[in-house]
Amino acid sequence: MQSKLSNPPGPGSWKLLSSLRNLRDQPHEYLLSAFQEYGDVVHFDIPGRQAFFINHPDTVQHVLQMNHRNYDKNTFQYNVLSRITGKGLLTNEGGEDWLQKRRIAQPAFSKNSLEGLVPIVVDAVESMLMGWEEANQRGGLIDVDREMMQCTLDVVAKMLFGADLSNQTYRLTGAVMDALDYLIFQTRTLMMIPGWFPIRENRVFREAMTTIEQAVNELIDRRSNSTPGHDLLGRLLAAQDESGQPVLSRQEVRDEVVTMLIAGHETVASSLTWAWYLLARHPEVRVSLQEEVVNMLGNREPVYADVSNLVYTQQAYHEALRLFPPAWLITRRAKDADVVGGYPITAGGLVIISPFTMHRRPDIWPEPDQFIPDRFSEDSHRERHRFGFIPFGGGPRLCIGNRFAEVEATLILAMVARRFSLKLPPDTRVAVEALVTMRPANGMPMKIEAIS
Ligand code: HEM
Repeated sequence: MQSKLSNPPGPGSWKLLSSLRNLRDQPHEYLLSAFQEYGDVVHFDIPGRQAFFINHPDTVQHVLQMNHRNYDKNTFQYNVLSRITGKGLLTNEGGEDWLQKRRIAQPAFSKNSLEGLVPIVVDAVESMLMGWEEANQRGGLIDVDREMMQCTLDVVAKMLFGADLSNQTYRLTGAVMDALDYLIFQTRTLMMIPGWFPIRENRVFREAMTTIEQAVNELIDRRSNSTPGHDLLGRLLAAQDESGQPVLSRQEVRDEVVTMLIAGHETVASSLTWAWYLLARHPEVRVSLQEEVVNMLGNREPVYADVSNLVYTQQAYHEALRLFPPAWLITRRAKDADVVGGYPITAGGLVIISPFTMHRRPDIWPEPDQFIPDRFSEDSHRERHRFGFIPFGGGPRLCIGNRFAEVEATLILAMVARRFSLKLPPDTRVAVEALVTMRPANGMPMKIEAIS
């Protein structure tokens, strides 16, 4: 493609500077307005760094898939996150090291493995709902976000590490949230504050990491002394090279475990929280979903084959992922200069991709702000550009847990919806916080009503 050899349009440094507050508090909204004002490729003239925000499915496909070798994850976003996850798959820069680890982990996410997810989700939801029955007697107010976090942590730990963390989920989800809050703090200050610096945030972060490390160390120790098994942890521990030596060091196993614990529960929990929020705002959708679940499952336990038959439930879930994609920001660094959408991208340039803004392109998603699950009917979905819907990213770095998340979320929605209706208390105002992930700023208090 012929380069226009001029930078893409954009706000210029002064205008960018005057929007700093907006950019810091509502970065997703800022990006959306930048797309609306400047178009598919936007240039941000950040001192010392050129940044390019791309929001067309073709250009996103180019960066994430066609020319992915030119782009790595050496970006501020992933460097900050790696303070928790080390070189685990999510924050791994790429290349051979990443490929080797991805190959070791992949079988734990195959269809065969995922069939084993169903009974684990069923147990976790049943035990969560026992608590809800009690809450129902006491007026029925719960923080759905917290409930989803604990349930999904329970699931990921049992599924990938064969561990029952149910007696420590409260403490662990708290630690994970504290650790993620720290990343938010780091992102907001826009620089790396050294860990030894004597401030409260560093102390809370250290305590949170101690809790996480202890749990992860216990998990690894327990399994190192027994037969490895075929779940993710078993595969990480058992992987050997040609000479029979372990492929991964203890630190590398630790990094993958922490990565999966965090990437594998907070995202699914947020997506479900947003789904409950949207269903509460659209009772007609909730009722259709409940009808489907009751017709399909009645009171019996779900099995794997049910997931693909819960068509409307999945559509509603996908529509929630469209409107509130938990991983709302994806970044890459251009290793060499490139041409994207007809514009030159400088070597070392930061490329910004946002599922949130992509999912609000009116040419792909008419009436983009409306919650319309039917958009995901098979026909409409097939006709759409593959990179117009990217809640799980795309290309070789596509989320390894995408199917895991879909199976888990569909089952949780179905099992909860057949027993309870979730409603928003009157005058509820929900603020969106889009930093590490896209979450409700202050949890999601909701009123549960048992279905008789
Ligand atoms: C709704 C739930 C989820 C969402 C929205 C989500 C989103 C994403 C996105 C957008 C990426 C790509 C990031 C990039 O290209 O820079 C990603 C990667 C990843 N996700 Fe997920 N994810 C979800 C669930 C899960 C689950 C359940 C797991 C594991 C149990 C998981 C583990 C990972 C890992 C390890 C990567 C890095 C893969 C690689 O680079 O090889 N995610 N996720």
